Amino acid sequence: MSDFQEEYVLRHPRSQELYDRASAAMPGGVSHNLRFFPPYPLFVEWASGNRLRDVEGNEYVDYWMGHLALILGHTPPPVMEALRAQLDHGLQWGVVNPLAVKLAERVKRHVPCAEGVRFCVTGAEATMYAVRTARGYTGRSQVLKATGGWHGYSTDLLAAVHPPFDRPESLGLPPDAAGGIGTFSFNDAEGATEAIRGTKDLAAVIVEPVLGAGGGIPPEPGFLEVLREETEAKDALLIFDEIITGFRLGLGGAQGFYGVTPDLVTLGKILGGGLPLGAVAGKEEVMAWTSVLGPKRDGLGVVVGGGTFSSNPMTMRAGLATLEHLETHQEEYEKIGRMGKALREQAREVLAVQGVPAVVTGLESLFQIHFLKEDTKVLRSAEDVHRYTDPRRGGEEFKVRMLNEGVHTMHGGGCLSFVHSGSDIRGFLEALAVVAGAMAGAKG
Ligand SMILES: Cc1ncc(COP(=O)(O)O)c(C=O)c1O
Repeated sequence: MSDFQEEYVLRHPRSQELYDRASAAMPGGVSHNLRFFPPYPLFVEWASGNRLRDVEGNEYVDYWMGHLALILGHTPPPVMEALRAQLDHGLQWGVVNPLAVKLAERVKRHVPCAEGVRFCVTGAEATMYAVRTARGYTGRSQVLKATGGWHGYSTDLLAAVHPPFDRPESLGLPPDAAGGIGTFSFNDAEGATEAIRGTKDLAAVIVEPVLGAGGGIPPEPGFLEVLREETEAKDALLIFDEIITGFRLGLGGAQGFYGVTPDLVTLGKILGGGLPLGAVAGKEEVMAWTSVLGPKRDGLGVVVGGGTFSSNPMTMRAGLATLEHLETHQEEYEKIGRMGKALREQAREVLAVQGVPAVVTGLESLFQIHFLKEDTKVLRSAEDVHRYTDPRRGGEEFKVRMLNEGVHTMHGGGCLSFVHSGSDIRGFLEALAVVAGAMAGAKG
């Protein structure tokens, strides 16, 4: 075991006990694979503002913020108040309710392509529905995605997520699961054009406008525009997966930020205000096919059926309270954007001073540090990330070392929320200096 892991183990005896029990009850001890890291994950029992507290009582400044879902911080007062009020009205009704109408109206108001909205419970469900809707609407079968694009664990899009990108992502997938999925490289406008033009029977292109799990990489100028033009020319749909960027890059998400309007969008995370929520939304003509009263072909419509917890009132309340707060505090977006920029710039300086070859990606409130195994100045795609970087150093070594310094990150970075301040950023950079120094020493 490395020295930083030994230090971690010394600080986390109760987490170790819990992890042993967790492993006996849940294979691998986790219910989201991302949450495992060696030697064993930290068990958290409390969070507030930008702080997490583990079961031993250690506190951390959190930059993972509930899997990027919490732009207002942990337990934000407006959301907590709304949820307390909802507790007296009911937890789960399983019938239509006015809260869902209000939330859908708000999504329509803010997200440019959202002329109709269907709620579900997770992001994976939303992307599954979006692809089904695109195939149903166009009557075509093929879908193109960016290599490294993460759209959740739904079978439809579980392809070309992890290196080497060309083998099945899992055992147990249907033999033809990846058959309907083609890929292009993020930020390769020419390659994407070729793929779009060359794909017969193309129903849709689905893309995260800012590549998320694949590297925290923003689109280069013109890239999203090319996807828009080429899909239009082909009468195929453009789907933006805005489960990370929705309500993070502003109320209009990435489509508002970049001024490129897709046909469909998937939303989740921030929209649920900390409770589980997904949504697929889009142009009226397309979304009409998801209606119980919608158009049919050969007697069939597109089934975006929903589930037990669709439009759950607690979630709708949390989402509404979040959007209402965002509407009246839009200047905060600018603040976290500025702080994010400063964090990325200063992190680059700290890493350079400590002699750790790294590239810092992200935009606005998102940031990610990539530790290089081969020299480069920029990372434009998931293939670049695979070629030039060592994700294990960010996801495991950096993560544990930063935890030892009281900072919680994921994938070598995370996000800022409205409750982060300048002094948090200074604290982050101080921790980074210590950790980068140790990493440089460990490497040498
Ligand atoms: C861009 C993107 N799409 C889809 C998903 C899947 O959402 P969920 O985890 O709610 O299923 C995620 C989750 O992190 C995501 O980042």
